[in-house]
Amino acid sequence: MLDGMTGVDRRTFLAVSAVVAGTAASAGIAHAAEAPVFAHGVASGDPLPDGILLWTRVVTDESVRWEVARDESFEHVVARGRTRTGAHRDHTVKVEVSGLRRATRYWYRFRVDDVVSPVGRTRTAPAGDCPSVRFGVVSCANWMAGHFVPYGYLADRDDLDAVIHLGDYIYPHYDPKVRDAEPKHEIITLADYRTRHALYKTDPHLQRLHAAHPMIATWDDNESADNSSAVGALGHDPATEGPWAVRLAAATRAYFEWMPIREGIMFRRLRYGSLCDLTMLDLRSYRTPETIMGARQRDWLIRGICDDSARWRLIGTSVMFSPLAIPPAPGFPSVNTDQWDGFPTDRELVVRALDRKGMKNAVFLTGDIHSSWAVDVPDGSALKSVATEYITTSITSDNFDEFLNVPPRTGSLALEAAIIAKNPHVRFVELDSHGVSTLDITPDEVRMDWFYTSDRTDPNATIRKAHSWRTRYGTARVEPVLF
Ligand SMILES: [Fe+2]
Repeated sequence: MLDGMTGVDRRTFLAVSAVVAGTAASAGIAHAAEAPVFAHGVASGDPLPDGILLWTRVVTDESVRWEVARDESFEHVVARGRTRTGAHRDHTVKVEVSGLRRATRYWYRFRVDDVVSPVGRTRTAPAGDCPSVRFGVVSCANWMAGHFVPYGYLADRDDLDAVIHLGDYIYPHYDPKVRDAEPKHEIITLADYRTRHALYKTDPHLQRLHAAHPMIATWDDNESADNSSAVGALGHDPATEGPWAVRLAAATRAYFEWMPIREGIMFRRLRYGSLCDLTMLDLRSYRTPETIMGARQRDWLIRGICDDSARWRLIGTSVMFSPLAIPPAPGFPSVNTDQWDGFPTDRELVVRALDRKGMKNAVFLTGDIHSSWAVDVPDGSALKSVATEYITTSITSDNFDEFLNVPPRTGSLALEAAIIAKNPHVRFVELDSHGVSTLDITPDEVRMDWFYTSDRTDPNATIRKAHSWRTRYGTARVEPVLF
């Protein structure tokens, strides 16, 4: 891991880094004829109590140096090393750093020759007793539909442990309503997916978000194609777009290259001390008409539910877990079979495990449907609640007023009322606004706050806190919080 630089080497390296960092503009001028070396920013992800994953992307095949420090000016460097990348992984760089202190803020940067990357900030996970944790929660960022101002809002917060991304980090189609995109067609090949990921990583708000907080990400369908599964996708036509398996493999490979996530199996569990654990599900890679999770992930999830070593159990599910009867509305089916409603057997197994355990401490965190919800998760009989579910809205992707082409707020109120009337376990729904959420966890409660943007098409949009709901420990019920 450490490259064994001598003390003199280290001092020289730091001196050069400091000079270059202090004159980033002149470094830019020196390379003005070429693409900037670190055009796609830096990122970190999947915090452990003693480690973190670092990410960047370079335009060269050079050896890349990295360092991690306790301070922003890199006077107290605690780990450093070097790694190589190349065309085989689209010049993306990942470094697994270990030996760090728990619940601690660190700064990191990379270097190629004399060019230094932007500085990133990250934080390791706590271990043991932990009084509170605060996450950002995000999903559904369609580049072409608007500006990622809500990401920038979370980047400006300095009180987050990490940001949970619940999927639709990219979108595969080409429909430049507000911003133009690359490539200028639906992405299908590995080169296409890499190009779209690269585009996203040039967004200033998203770059700032990654540089400010570690991300814990899973994917949904749009990282491959609309309504995707292991065996095909609504948004894929094999007759004109080739075999689905080839496209899914390309999408998977590009995602692992470009996201600050450990490579291999995407479903995983991260621990935040004894306060909570966070189970991130992969509901696309193993999905077939019969199962949303696949047998292996399902068994792993149910075993995890039976383990009670954490006070709260957070479950990141890209699509809505709770049942939902959709009232009659133009363009909408009565049931959305792309979410867990299409897989009642898998859901029943999870609900039964939650019910058997009787802990009432599971909280589902959900994206996908571009709207804000707080839900009591009912058991099969709908007589009691076994968990709660909080759904964060989209950063920019169309929500209901845009789908239905009705005026925001006034146009959707009747549908919101009809949803609650038809689904008594749905306690709160707001169909129109874009934004982000934060999730506060203490031993006594889990609370979600929704923050909405004034206008997704406005690069200078403002953000306001709009709603707040919580679950008190042991209740498995959501309740509104006045603020
Ligand atoms: Fe989405």
